[in-house]
Amino acid sequence: MASVTTLSKFIIENERNYPEATGEFTAVLNDVVVACKRLSDLVNMGALANVLGAAETENVQGEQQKKLDIISNNVFIESIEWSGHFAGMASEEMEDVYPIPKEYPRGKYLITFDPLDGSSNIDVNVSVGTIFSILRCPDDVEEPTAEDFLRPGTEQVCAGYCLYGSATMMVLTMGAGVNGFTLDRAIGEFVLTHPAMMIPQDTNEFAINASNQRHWEAPVKRYIDELLAGKDGARGQEFNMRWIGSMVGDVHRLLCRGGIFLYPIDEKIKAQGKEGRLRLLYEANPMSFIVEQAGGLSHTGTERVMEVQPHGLHQRVPVLMGSKNEIERLIAYHQEG
Ligand code: AHG
Ligand code: MN
Ligand code: MN
Repeated sequence: MASVTTLSKFIIENERNYPEATGEFTAVLNDVVVACKRLSDLVNMGALANVLGAAETENVQGEQQKKLDIISNNVFIESIEWSGHFAGMASEEMEDVYPIPKEYPRGKYLITFDPLDGSSNIDVNVSVGTIFSILRCPDDVEEPTAEDFLRPGTEQVCAGYCLYGSATMMVLTMGAGVNGFTLDRAIGEFVLTHPAMMIPQDTNEFAINASNQRHWEAPVKRYIDELLAGKDGARGQEFNMRWIGSMVGDVHRLLCRGGIFLYPIDEKIKAQGKEGRLRLLYEANPMSFIVEQAGGLSHTGTERVMEVQPHGLHQRVPVLMGSKNEIERLIAYHQEG
């Protein structure tokens, strides 16, 4: 029988490369894995599990919540709060930091998460996902507050996403490359299927919500116009476009075959008093860590996403990420103004 590398085996073997590692991280990730397996099951059951449709609530960002946004947030919390690995959590769906209940021991990590990314796709049976980011909790902090979570993405110790697509996949980085695991339902384990994922430096595929075109700023307009002009334009080649509407799905595609994913700042977003569309702590930072570890770039147009100093839990940022050579060109257009 062919041997398989499960996610747990992979992490244990990885930790052996670091003599100072305590082995604790295997257990830390295991809790997250259990949460994602439970969510995979719910997403997969769809209408049968009575989880589709809108809830009657809005989240702190004024967005209409779906039933599954709330359920997945609860599943995530329930799966990891008891374990003693975390000192606190912050989620896209909760206004404030979630403290670990008194009856459970405190751990040395903080976790931020987007429990269900791609909410608008839930009811139409299109891929959605979960995104998470793990930070070390400052040593002297017993009860973490929002301040303790406001750290640049460069301080992440681990980031990952789970894509509930035609297959369920977990993609992870712990700062030494990116690896992808596929859920084998027969044995209930994530199995290493995409070792050492690397984003090709060049691409002819881009992802952007083109319905915002009239609001874009000049550098983005110029860049996309050149792509759309194809062979006859400045770039002298054809480009193709894809937009799923779930960041997890769109970024997974570029990790598999190259591409760029853009959610720039635009006049409409500015008029709403926001700094971007995507959330820094729950979406942009973890995905940027993964993309950079796979050889890609992630930038706001003015700075590296992972170097943005957060000022609020639910802060948003512009995101330009993916294949290195295209993102470099787009950054250059921003610098030229
Ligand atoms: P969420 O479902 O967690 O609110 O995130 C949705 C995000 C992201 O996943 C996606 O890329 C983007 O919003 C889609 O934006 P549009 O609605 O403009 O397509
Ligand atoms: Mn999201
Ligand atoms: Mn979400």
